[in-house]
Amino acid sequence: MSTNKAGAEAAFTPDPAKISQAALDYIKAGPKKLYIGGAWKAAQSGETFEVFDPATGEVMAHAALGKAADIDDAVKAARKAFQDPSWARISPHQRSRYLLTIADIIERNVEELATIQAIDIGMVLPQSRQLTASMCDVFRYFAGFATKILGSTYPSDGSALTYSLREPLGVVGAIIPWNSPTFASAWKIAPALACGNTVVLKPAEQAPLLPLRLAELLEAADLPPGVLNIVSGLGADAGDALAKHPGVNKINFTGSTGVGKGILAASTGNLKKVTLELGGKSPNIIFPDADLEKTIPAAVMGFTSGAGQVCVAGTRVFVHEDVYDEVAAAIAKAAQAIKVGNPLDPTADIGPIISKKQLDRVSDYIKSGQEEGAALRTGGEAHEGPGYYVEPTVFENVTDEMRIVREEIFGPVAALIRFKDENDAVFRANDTEFGLAAAVWTKDISRAHTVARALEAGTVWVNTIFELDVIAPYGGYKMSGIGRELGAESIEANTQVKTVVVRF
Ligand code: NAI
Ligand code: MG
Repeated sequence: MSTNKAGAEAAFTPDPAKISQAALDYIKAGPKKLYIGGAWKAAQSGETFEVFDPATGEVMAHAALGKAADIDDAVKAARKAFQDPSWARISPHQRSRYLLTIADIIERNVEELATIQAIDIGMVLPQSRQLTASMCDVFRYFAGFATKILGSTYPSDGSALTYSLREPLGVVGAIIPWNSPTFASAWKIAPALACGNTVVLKPAEQAPLLPLRLAELLEAADLPPGVLNIVSGLGADAGDALAKHPGVNKINFTGSTGVGKGILAASTGNLKKVTLELGGKSPNIIFPDADLEKTIPAAVMGFTSGAGQVCVAGTRVFVHEDVYDEVAAAIAKAAQAIKVGNPLDPTADIGPIISKKQLDRVSDYIKSGQEEGAALRTGGEAHEGPGYYVEPTVFENVTDEMRIVREEIFGPVAALIRFKDENDAVFRANDTEFGLAAAVWTKDISRAHTVARALEAGTVWVNTIFELDVIAPYGGYKMSGIGRELGAESIEANTQVKTVVVRF
């Protein structure tokens, strides 16, 4: 019997004393505008779109419906700022100070920003707080880089000097998804600015509030106008216009693999640089010698955290046959104990799905699993109204061809897969078009390293999961992406190299 009836907590009323009033006030205030060239503007069409509260399904705000004309306006503002001495000629120390100031502003406003994100995307508040706070580390890390972006000198004869300069690309277009606007914004804005670029960011239409409020708060950092621009709007319209714009030098995109392919195609017009962070179907491999007390909760967190709307979610759980029965029972039990509820309810473990459309997608996948003959071990129920809730769902008796095993679901749904030995596990874990992340649970150190090498994934976790740090690169193998974010790789991805030959 499931104890986590999805939607059971939808009637929850938050305690106003415990919720950031600033966040509630911001959400309630009038229609949100576009931030272009340091000014707040309505969309040129005058249109707005509705912003839904996924916990209730109700419209809670409106945001300007930016379109191609607004994107063009923003790209021009960003180009102007890129060339203006107030940004182009400042010392690296000043660029560093801007980023440190941004981090300080975020730190002072973590509660408000975290609450806006929690409400807008339906993420439970403690998790939203943690992700919001992590933005400060991201800005501080890249603040340090601003003074350490180096060129080289090269050997030459006695009357020449050959050296290289690592220069910014120009205008960077950032297109982000709804599943975590805080870190998606930070990951894209911080390295771009550290390298001297300017940014036009398009939030996801399902969750525009955090980036817009962030830009408002960041006005206190006094960046020159046009260095950071935010244009809310639809993917197929504003997003497409940004991806195609000849005045944009790079697109940094996070989202679905299908849209990522379109971004790459759109980039050919002016051969803009592209970084893509796309979907996943990450394997989580549990060997018989794993410390099950740590493994089980982590495995369940791996596919339920953020209601499964996480690109690195460990949705294919491979379990060795010797421990399969024990692990399957423990995972089912732990999944049932997850409390699905309002993101502001302190007792909730996970919140709702972002939208009716996404809830329907998740429900369709659950149905397809059943139709293709998989056995539902626990969960499976989705409830619409009020709010978009779905129970943590675990399938068994799956085959490697089923859609629930091959496709990214983006809901709290996992497939348990029995394996017999290391080779079998690695082969099947790699039998996917994706390659974003993977996890391995074992106490055998040589097995851990051998399997980590053999897995085709941009990040491999051993005896842990979801540990991402701005210090190390992050990105996908195969169809999970192109290029890397974070770490020094992010500096390379936001710059280009000029060689200068001086004959004297
Ligand atoms: P999406 O890929 O459509 O949206 C991501 C961003 O791209 C949004 O800002 C959207 O407005 C923009 N976009 C959409 N179409 C565009 C276009 N033609 N040109 C330029 N920009 C465009 O993702 P969506 O529809 O929100 O979610 C669908 C599925 O995608 C999810 O179920 C999930 O499987 C996957 N997804 C994966 C993410 C990840 O982090 N790996 C994040 C979001 C979605
Ligand atoms: Mg979409």
